[in-house]
Amino acid sequence: MDKIVVEGGVRLSGKIPISGAKNAALPLLAAALLPSGRSIYKNVPGLADVRTMAKLLTMLGWEVEGSGTDTLSIGSPAPDKLKLEAPYDLVKTMRASVLVLGPLVARYGRARVSLPGGCAIGARPIDQHLKGLQAMGAEVKLDHGYVDVTCKRLRGATIVLDVPTVTGCENLIMAAALAQGRTVLENAAREPEVEELALVLNKMGAKIQGAGTPIITIEGVDELKPIEHAIIPDRIEAGTYAVAAAMTHGDVLLEGARPEHLEAVIAKLRASGVTVAAEAGGLRVKGDADIRAVDIVTQPHPGFPTDMQAQFMVMACVARGQSIIKEMIFENRYMHVPELGRMGADITVDGRTAVVRGGAQLTGAAVMATDLRASASLVLAGLVASGTTEVLRVYHLDRGYEQIEQKLAGVGAKIRRVVG
Ligand code: EPU
Repeated sequence: MDKIVVEGGVRLSGKIPISGAKNAALPLLAAALLPSGRSIYKNVPGLADVRTMAKLLTMLGWEVEGSGTDTLSIGSPAPDKLKLEAPYDLVKTMRASVLVLGPLVARYGRARVSLPGGCAIGARPIDQHLKGLQAMGAEVKLDHGYVDVTCKRLRGATIVLDVPTVTGCENLIMAAALAQGRTVLENAAREPEVEELALVLNKMGAKIQGAGTPIITIEGVDELKPIEHAIIPDRIEAGTYAVAAAMTHGDVLLEGARPEHLEAVIAKLRASGVTVAAEAGGLRVKGDADIRAVDIVTQPHPGFPTDMQAQFMVMACVARGQSIIKEMIFENRYMHVPELGRMGADITVDGRTAVVRGGAQLTGAAVMATDLRASASLVLAGLVASGTTEVLRVYHLDRGYEQIEQKLAGVGAKIRRVVG
């Protein structure tokens, strides 16, 4: 298996181009199931998760062209090719496969999707997705590990979500786009990726208002048309490289990064003593010699993102002072802690709270993690550790960071992939 090898201690300097957002691309690929004809997406990140979603669409009968480039074209299936089932093999490798549920039921009246089950970062149920579809008139049956959802034509409903689930909202917005009548989603997720999906669906002819606020209103339409669209830059990728620049006391321009998607992250960087400035080409991040400890509580957007918690924890390890980090979104998202401990970090976890005593001199080690952002945090730790760090299980990184070693090497990091 491949590994990433990092020699720590280099100050990063230069420009890092930010790729299209993984968590925007995945629902947008699913949205291509809604219209007849061929939709074209640009700025598609070259990531394992995007390839998995493209494979799922192909299995459902859609014609997906352009994998491996930053343009994907997705054409609707010949009637004899259409399938309405997302199998366990794919769903277990990528939970976001569940995003095909809403579009398939809305357009074809039926979908059968393997239940995702628990994952490394928590239980992650899909009860809110199903509750919403049921409120729109769908019949939901569970059998043999699959959820079978049927409804001739979904009808609009008022749905109050118990939690502002991101993919749950995305599924329900896509379902409601072709439902009969008006759907109101309350306690909706406000993430930029939800806004992006609504924007694209509106380009397709949907009538969606309020995306980016807690109440989203969708007037169902009878059909949607294919579109061409360039995907927004990845705020979590940008945030990850911002931490890399800060921790190495570097000076890096994150090309294309959008400050309005990163407000909570930028606020915490500034509170740590890092200089962050919006420029025409993106976001410039300069690390001060002295990084101060800050406390973090993860929250749904616009709060501090759970997908940046592990990266900030690494910065807390080397900051001056003690940081208290609370992970409020997922119940098991501290898998990086024991690995950081092996590199010399001083962290105590009690339930959802981690206490990080800063000032550690991290030392390189062989480490691995069981999820994407935890793996990214280990690469960051390697950038400031003395000696050599080997990050194993690189396939987690490949799910969400396009060419991470090339991008970091491009700003001076001593980092390489060893193909194994
Ligand atoms: N939840 C429920 N019931 C549901 C759905 C969610 O209880 O029906 C709970 C979850 O268990 C969790 C909370 O609600 O405690 C929030 O989960 P959410 O559904 O919002 O997460 P998600 O949609 O499965 C997306 C991102 C994640 C990101 C989270 C939170 C995609 C494809 N994934 O997941 O991204 O962490 O939102 O912001 O958009 C990553 O990129 O590394 C990643 C894990």
